Amino acid sequence: MSIAPLPKIDVLQSHMAYREAGRKDAPTALFLHGNPTSSYIWRNVLPLVADVASCIAPDLIGFGQSGKPDIAYRFEDHARYLDAFIEKMGIDSAYLVAQDWGTALAFHLAARRPKLVRGLVFMEFTRPIPTWEEFLRDTTEREIFRKFRTPGEGEQLILEQNAFVELVLPGATVRPLTDEEMAVYRAPFPDPKSRYPTWRFPNELPIAGQPSDVYAAMEQAHAALAASTYPKLLFAGDPGALVAPDVARTFAASLRDCRFVLLGEGKHYLQEDHPEAIGRGVAAFIAEIEGREHALA
Ligand code: BEZ
Repeated sequence: MSIAPLPKIDVLQSHMAYREAGRKDAPTALFLHGNPTSSYIWRNVLPLVADVASCIAPDLIGFGQSGKPDIAYRFEDHARYLDAFIEKMGIDSAYLVAQDWGTALAFHLAARRPKLVRGLVFMEFTRPIPTWEEFLRDTTEREIFRKFRTPGEGEQLILEQNAFVELVLPGATVRPLTDEEMAVYRAPFPDPKSRYPTWRFPNELPIAGQPSDVYAAMEQAHAALAASTYPKLLFAGDPGALVAPDVARTFAASLRDCRFVLLGEGKHYLQEDHPEAIGRGVAAFIAEIEGREHALA
């Protein structure tokens, strides 16, 4: 099976690949993925948003068809590369559409550059989690993430056995991913060294105060989110993984101007189980906001 090459731009002595769809004269919608996926996870969402937005979905550095520079792949590295990507693409205003680590990057970006944000769509989002007991309801899954963060065990599981691609991705998607889909997700991670970015992310999750810099950055980003006035839309799946439906509903109600949509059965990779509902929901959200802006102008 051959995988179609994506366009790429030079970013910070490496390169970042991206998927594009839609009308260039429309507002930008920036789609941000998480671990261990890539812009591929948005493939069935983008065509449904293309009528109302200029859709751009980058592959984060170290993921998909982007480069794998010799960096630590810490959260701050991803923020730095994403900032450079946004600058290079000339994006100064955008709807942010994000899942998993994409949400951490979106919240962090919105906290630093609120004027850039026309609106925020998010799902299965990261937040500072005060204790391990509050991280993932399923205790077996929680223990797996503890192992990912245990020196020696984490490297064995993720670098040697490719656990984030082979175990977490299919395990947190309701429908079985096809062989072809799994082949695309496997392609960026053929050997242990290439999987390093997928090991780093679970080790960056802000749980029980650690890592302290990521925890502090997420606390700041969430404080900014709580105070923000730009329009928002939160999707949740049932039972979810990082965020259960009841938690998501309460969270949406705590924010200003935040709509809430329960998608039905879904775990973590909601774009694989509900691309139609997400795509149509994002398109309706953007159309509503743009209509409101035009009515006010
Ligand atoms: C994560 O990448 O943080 C994650 C992935 C699957 C389930 C839960 C969390």
